Formats: sequence, C-alpha cells, structure tokens
Amino acid sequence: MTNKKYTIVTYGCQMNEHDSEKISWILETMGYKWTDNKEESDFIIYNTCLVRENAELKVYGQLGALKDLKRKNPDLILAVCGCMMQQEEARDIILSKYKHVDIIFGTGNIHKLPQLISRYHQINRTVVDIVEDNREIVEDIEANRKYSFKAFVNIMYGCNNFCTYCIVPYTRGREKSRKPENIIKEIEDLAKKGYKEITLLGQNVNSYGKTLGYDYSFANLLEDVNKIEGIARIRFMTSHPKDLSDELIQSIAKLDKVCEHLHLPVQSGSNKVLKEMNRKYTKGDYLTLIEKIKNAVPDIAISTDIIVGFPGETEEDFNETLDLIKKVRYDSAFTFLYSVRKGTIAAKMENQVPDEIKHERFQRLLDTLYPIFYEENLKYADKIVEVLVEEVSKNNENVLTGRTRHGKLIHFEGSKELIGNLVNVKVEKIKSFTLEGSII
Ligand code: SAH
Ligand code: SF4
Ligand code: F3S
Repeated sequence: MTNKKYTIVTYGCQMNEHDSEKISWILETMGYKWTDNKEESDFIIYNTCLVRENAELKVYGQLGALKDLKRKNPDLILAVCGCMMQQEEARDIILSKYKHVDIIFGTGNIHKLPQLISRYHQINRTVVDIVEDNREIVEDIEANRKYSFKAFVNIMYGCNNFCTYCIVPYTRGREKSRKPENIIKEIEDLAKKGYKEITLLGQNVNSYGKTLGYDYSFANLLEDVNKIEGIARIRFMTSHPKDLSDELIQSIAKLDKVCEHLHLPVQSGSNKVLKEMNRKYTKGDYLTLIEKIKNAVPDIAISTDIIVGFPGETEEDFNETLDLIKKVRYDSAFTFLYSVRKGTIAAKMENQVPDEIKHERFQRLLDTLYPIFYEENLKYADKIVEVLVEEVSKNNENVLTGRTRHGKLIHFEGSKELIGNLVNVKVEKIKSFTLEGSII
C-alpha cells in the first residue's frame, strides 16, 4: 500500500487531540501519508466530542457534506471514532442516517484500527467496534505528535467524579492511572528527541495514583518528571479543586520545571449550584485554595472553566459566580452555556434555565471576565519573559507566536528557525488575550 492519504478531523479536548496523534501514528505505520485535503484522501476519520451539543451537531453537518465525496470516490474509507461513538444513541444516528460511514470505533480501542480496516475490506459494510468500559491500558501505541518540541502525555484515563452535567465519565469510563515507569520512560524518550515541554493529561490529575495499588501520588510523579534532563517545562491538566492537596501546592512551588500556571475549573460560584453539580467543594473552599496557592506561588496564573445556566441557577446564584471571579481575578477562562447531555443526572432536572436567560448571563460573564484578563496581563508590562517559540503567526510571516511559562500567548518578530527554542522576550504591548514584545 503506497500513496494512500489520510485526514483526521478532531473535536474536543486535549485528550482527543492526543488520541488523534496516536491514530495518525497507526495510519502512518500502515503506509498512509497525511493530507489536509479531503478531496484527495483515501481515509477520512472524525474524532468526535460529546461534551456539548454544538460539538455533536458539527460532526453530523460535516458527515452529511461528505456524502458527495464518497459517491465520487467509492474507495474512500470514512471512519468516526471518539466520545460520541461511546454513546449508543449517537451511534444509532450514524448507522441509520449516515450510511456512508464505513468504520465506527470508540475511545478504548484505537489500537484495533488496522484490524478494523481489514475487516471492512473483507465484509464491505459498516464495521462497528466499541469497548464499553476499557479496563486495560494499552501501552504499545506511539503518537505522531503535531509538534516536535511540546508533547501531551497521558497519565490517566477516565473519570470517577460524575459531575451531574458531564458526559465524560460515560464516554471515557472509570479512572485508571498509567504506571509511573511507563510515563517516565515515555517522557525520557521525548527528552532525548529534543522535546522541551510536557503536558501531563488526565480528567482529574490530582487523583493520579489511586488505582496503582501502592502509595504514589501526582506530587510524586511531578517530582520524578522534574528530574528528567532536557525537559524545561511541565504543565498538567485538569485539576479538580476537591483533590488539590497541600502536597501538590508545595510541589508546584518548589519544582523548577513546573510552570506557574494552574487550570482550576470552578464551574460556578454558588454553593447551591456546586452541590447540585456534585462538585464536592463550596465557594469558600475554592477561595481558600486560591489563597493557599497564591501564598505559595505569588505570581501564579490561574485559569478556569465556568458554566452558566445550570438547571436551577437563579440570578442570585449567578451573582455568586461573578463575585467569585472578582475575588480570584482569573488570567483566562473557558466559558460555556450549560448544554443538556442525555444520560447525565442534570439532564433530568426539571428547572432548566431558558436560553435567553443563559445568553444574557453569558454576556455579563464575559463583561466581567475580560477587563480582569486585561488588568492581570498588565503585570507583565516591560517584563522579560521566557517564551517557547511555537509557530509563525497566521497573519504575518515575520511574526512568531509562543507561550510564556504562565501560559500567556505572545507575539514578536523573529525568524522561523527559532521555532522550538526558548527565547527571552521583552513585553511591550498588553491586550486582554495576548501580549506583544521583542526578542532581546
Ligand atoms: N475533566 C475536566 C474537563 C471536563 S470537560 C474537568 O473536570 O475540568 C471541560 C469543561 O466542559 C468542563 O470543565 C465544563 O466546564 C464543561 N462542560 C462539561 N459538560 C458540560 C455541559 N453539559 N454543558 C456545558 N459545559 C460543560
Ligand atoms: Fe466531567 Fe467532572 Fe469528570 Fe471533569 S471531573 S470530566 S467535569 S465528570
Ligand atoms: Fe474530551 Fe469531549 Fe470526550 S471534552 S473527553 S473529547 S466528550
């Protein structure tokens, strides 16, 4: 098999992005070559997300548009995988309405893709392969990573938290930690290849280690990764506030490679809503945590996830969220309109918030957040920051973009040979979402 080309379209979180890097590795070991162009692809794969309704609708739209292409090129193989495929209902929609899809698989059986492709060739009709709750961790898939200097590394899979709005525990199964020796080995190999930045991935990294059967925590893992020569920066996501231990805060403070940025999703500032969400902390607990972190790491950048319009959210509840934002003073935030996810507990709650109220609150949420982002960025004015150069700017080929240790996106002039290097940049201009400066 030569000259066969593939495209992967990825929706969803870093977990999915990294899964796509693994799928890419599998396809390339089979002889496929990457293309951006669907028209010239022999294999198109959609790696889907189920976390909000709009993620789901986009996939149906795209699949519909591919009917023509499939008609023109009957040899084209069309596959759909990822979180949506873990749900029976979404699978049934694909099987009944998008009959031109050839292969369907889930989040737990990526490694079986070569077998699924040959099975499709044998039977010449849709192949479906799903593992409901993947108990085993498959260690022998590598990843064809998007960048050659920063890498995602899975440290655990699944989630046990069952926040009442969230579909992830149903699509990714129960929490399971990878063995530390496998994680360390993977990062050592990356370091040897010249990788400088590692992002440790898990739905709730702070509970890393609980399924290992012996005493080894996320803080222990950070300590061990911090020792790996060649790695300059360690990031991790996501941290659940209920599991953020003092030990971990101390690790962030003392380990030189752990970046001064913490993503700590709060979701809401109302104790009543937090309880209904099953988040297991109060607004007060969260603010105490923030205080502890800021005491231990005074210049830490903090980002979060916020949902507006959770069932039963009143104006008073929403104001608690705005109040919390003003107290924490976030550096950035992902903001979401609550989206009903069938199969979750919150989907059955009766007091759903009307769309126009959700939208109106969402706007007030942004109006509160954006000036704070800008004011927090002012701290960097005239400072010299270390930047990992990531790419050439989309708008100007003389401009590079990169990220600071604090996770800030920064633009500056420079030549593309610098991509993948750490450089020092003097910050000269502040915006709400980006910084601008010059290399010194
Ligand atoms: N495990 C991570 C990420 C989960 S999904 C964590 O716990 O933070 C990322 C974000 O999507 C969540 O933090 C939440 O803010 C948002 N989200 C999840 N389900 C949602 C829903 N039904 N409607 C709107 N936003 C949702
Ligand atoms: Fe979803 Fe909550 Fe698990 Fe995050 S911790 S993946 S929000 S259930
Ligand atoms: Fe991620 Fe979406 Fe699945 S957020 S875990 S890809 S449902």
